[in-house]
Amino acid sequence: MASSQVLVAANRGPLSYSLDTDGTLGTRRGGGGLVSGLSAALAEQPEALWICAALSEADREAVRRGVAEPGVRMLDIDPTMYDDAYNGIANSVLWFTHHHLYDIPREPVFDADFRRRWASYVAYNRAFAEALAEEAAPGARVLVQDYHLALVPGALRALRPDLRIAHFTHTPWAAKPFLDVLPDDVREQLLDGMLGADVLGFHTQAWATSFLDAAGRGNVAVFPLGVDAQELRALAHRPEVDDKLAQLRAEVGDLKTIVRVDRTELSKNVLRGLLAYRELLTAHPEWRGRVVHLASAYPSRQDLKVYRDYTQSVRELAAAVNAEFGTEQWQPVLVSVQDDFARSLAAYRMADVALVNPVRDGMNLVAKEVPVVSEAGCVLVLSTGAGAYEELRGDALTVNPYDVTQTAEALHAALAMPDPERAERTKRLAAAATALPPAAWFEAQLSALNT
Ligand code: G6P
Repeated sequence: MASSQVLVAANRGPLSYSLDTDGTLGTRRGGGGLVSGLSAALAEQPEALWICAALSEADREAVRRGVAEPGVRMLDIDPTMYDDAYNGIANSVLWFTHHHLYDIPREPVFDADFRRRWASYVAYNRAFAEALAEEAAPGARVLVQDYHLALVPGALRALRPDLRIAHFTHTPWAAKPFLDVLPDDVREQLLDGMLGADVLGFHTQAWATSFLDAAGRGNVAVFPLGVDAQELRALAHRPEVDDKLAQLRAEVGDLKTIVRVDRTELSKNVLRGLLAYRELLTAHPEWRGRVVHLASAYPSRQDLKVYRDYTQSVRELAAAVNAEFGTEQWQPVLVSVQDDFARSLAAYRMADVALVNPVRDGMNLVAKEVPVVSEAGCVLVLSTGAGAYEELRGDALTVNPYDVTQTAEALHAALAMPDPERAERTKRLAAAATALPPAAWFEAQLSALNT
């Protein structure tokens, strides 16, 4: 009989370690949408095992000391090989390909150095496949996560044909002309690796269709991850968040707020968001002194220079908008580049408008979280490039992410929307956002493996 054991493989684990100067190990929750979704779902699966990579020296030290938490196995992968696989391939090549981020006149360049990094990516995927093969009971179900581990299904299938394997992609899937940029053999390895899975999950029909366009076959399924309303509201009403809300209120007063919360991530399109805000203040000067743009970005992938430069550009553009329009009484933009979840939740609660304008995004959970948490109802300005667009388009004000003027006009319409309409839309957005909470999302994938 097939085992009921469930294994999850993801680059990032549910927690990470920190190392104090006195050698004590501390733990903290891992970041990103994937981790929040999976952690909630796995909490309800006591037998589950989560295999992840040791991401830092502190994580490696935890592995060496054998202190890993129950239900978690961290793989201590050689740091240079890990850096090549994670920064060099997953985040610099696959992420850029799926989000259409390349600056084509200059990049990508597939040379000998790329080949070395690709070999590391293959080896890193191999390490996950071997660990899974070692840990899995006969017939167990394995859920492999994301573009970091695209080769795992194929490699694991070869080692353990008895296992039932699903792969879930949290990013978009590249449109064919963009995937065709990859070297032919690399693209084939990628698709073959994915096709080793029994089920290939995506957040939206659009991404699943892109995969089928490229691969020509595959058992794809759509599982649009949503949020758990009860859990999120409980998190958003902790005393710590109340304090942050009081602080933000003191800073902002009773002005209207346009809120955005992202990772410091190129695909989130923070720069065009700021340009749209600038255009709003220029084209509709009546908003000057009456609105504040709260832009939070928590640091991500700062090992890559292009991300550090982008973060710096965000700060500079925000400062330029403040210099252009600010007065002694009014600071138009408040930027916060720090990992402060409580502050983000406080910003959600006070949001009048949420700006979610990524150029391309697998799902974007912020678009789903804000309507659930906002207190007075909140208008969602949403990019057509976000996965969430498929479910939320009816009640959001939707924008082409490249069209700054259209985005500025949507911000204007959002700020001017009458309260009753705003409240009605928020209610329907919250209902759509909570249709498939993490536990149900996870269960749906497990059920798809049973059939
Ligand atoms: C996206 C990816 C996740 C990733 C997260 C945070 O949501 O799909 O796999 O974990 O970003 O990125 P990071 O590189 O910090 O893990």
